[in-house]
Amino acid sequence: MSDPKFTPRVFSGIQPSGGLTLGNYLGAIKRFVTMQDEAFETVYCMVDMHAMTVWQDPKDLAHNTRELAAGFIASGVSPEKSILINQSQVPEHAQLGWIFNCVARMGWMGRMTQFKDKAGKNTENVSLGLFAYPALMAADILVYHATHVPVGEDQKQHLELTRDIAAKFNHDYGVDFFPMTEPVIEGAATRVMSLRDGSKKMSKSDPSDASRINMTDDADAIAKKIRKAKTDPDALPSEVDGLKDRPEARNLVNIYAGLNEQSVEEVLRDVGGQQFGTFKPALAELAVAKLSPISTEMARLMADPAEIDRILARGAGQAREIATPILKKTYEIVGMVG
Ligand code: TYM
Repeated sequence: MSDPKFTPRVFSGIQPSGGLTLGNYLGAIKRFVTMQDEAFETVYCMVDMHAMTVWQDPKDLAHNTRELAAGFIASGVSPEKSILINQSQVPEHAQLGWIFNCVARMGWMGRMTQFKDKAGKNTENVSLGLFAYPALMAADILVYHATHVPVGEDQKQHLELTRDIAAKFNHDYGVDFFPMTEPVIEGAATRVMSLRDGSKKMSKSDPSDASRINMTDDADAIAKKIRKAKTDPDALPSEVDGLKDRPEARNLVNIYAGLNEQSVEEVLRDVGGQQFGTFKPALAELAVAKLSPISTEMARLMADPAEIDRILARGAGQAREIATPILKKTYEIVGMVG
């Protein structure tokens, strides 16, 4: 249960480090849209400062930030209902991030699987920012005293760390100031897998474009990628148990369920017994029907980047109204003279 002392508030972010994928859409954005109509204030963020923890060409970063904003809006995130920002335009994130750099322990950061995956064997040569990244992520959330964070499964460990940072801060300074944020990891598609390898997450950084569906893919590309998706030779089962040890089949069924807003059980009730030769075209048709209006709307919004910039500037103003007093109080707690 959330602490009634805190306003129910949602924060979540996505990196503008390349195009949006179906994984981002099903794992995160769809939930962003439903939560803005529930009893929450909602703040959604293009985390440009996180993106630059690995090299980004400046022109690409600016373009990808605007395109991500267009993707949010085209998917149904409303700038009237939600506060839409890019991280660097709200400096309180970085300011609280520094304080959390001094709360988090090296050992905690070293255990982050995302850091280990991204750094690989190259730990001497990656940026310091990549290592410190989860402390800034905690600041993104806690600078709003956010109580709920909708994300895909892969962010779970970072959200546990966010709670650890909040608890250590509260303990060290003898306060009950930062909330214990709840992760919201829900639905059939919290971990969308690669279309080429059911053991790997669908990711914008996978070198194979055929492994993912991009939100900007056209109908032909979507249909082709689904047709070529790796599967096994068996028919689909009628029960969830039958998907055990069939990662590729499970992934396609999860995607179908996520897109069609059904449970996996409901989908299997309808498609159990079908061969992939029948199921894949139905999935492709569903994906095109759901995604192509979004990509059309994204292209329309991208034709007027000045309007996107106005939305982000307005969002930054609204966000700072929440974040400034929280940061001010944090400075007082730690003993900064102001
Ligand atoms: P990022 O940019 O990698 O991904 C954005 C969101 O999309 C979800 N996601 C997926 N969900 C299901 N299946 C997939 N294959 C898949 N791929 C991505 C992610 O779980 C995430 O919810 N560290 C974050 C960004 C961030 C953030 C935050 C998130 C920075 N500050 C504060 C929440 C709160 C990240 O790299 O997400």
